[in-house]
Amino acid sequence: MTASEQAADVVGIASDHAGVELKATLVAMLHDLGMEVLDLGTDGPDSVDYPDFADALAGAMTDGRAGRGILICGTGIGIAMAANRHRNIRAATCHDTTDARLARQHNDANVLALGARTTGLEVAQDCVRVFLDTAFEGDTNPRHVRRVAKIS
Ligand code: RB5
Repeated sequence: MTASEQAADVVGIASDHAGVELKATLVAMLHDLGMEVLDLGTDGPDSVDYPDFADALAGAMTDGRAGRGILICGTGIGIAMAANRHRNIRAATCHDTTDARLARQHNDANVLALGARTTGLEVAQDCVRVFLDTAFEGDTNPRHVRRVAKIS
């Protein structure tokens, strides 16, 4: 496997202060699943600005250090908005596994955004598993390829 193929398997993760605890739990879960994780912070309770952490993840995905990502803020909304300003990012705020599945199947989302204050721990963990395990349906449905291409 080449270095860039290995990096494509890396899951980048970042959060603001609202998402620190959920991030730590998800990092541990990803390690338990045998995944390589790039944790971009934040790591403490001090108030930070969520766009800075969206930008950190987008930068890691742009330069190839991570192939896909997870972002967490209080609602998963602001951090997804910031991430989606980057042309190569398709961040989806997901509240349940149906959101996570369809974000992959139809939208080829490459970033899962979660709300630490709005989504329970086990639902968030299930969203991550489904997000990482679900393929884009572009191979079987060219409409999805066309629509995703129009986004960028
Ligand atoms: C931080 O208090 C909160 O505004 C932030 O985590 C997020 O919910 C914004 O979308």
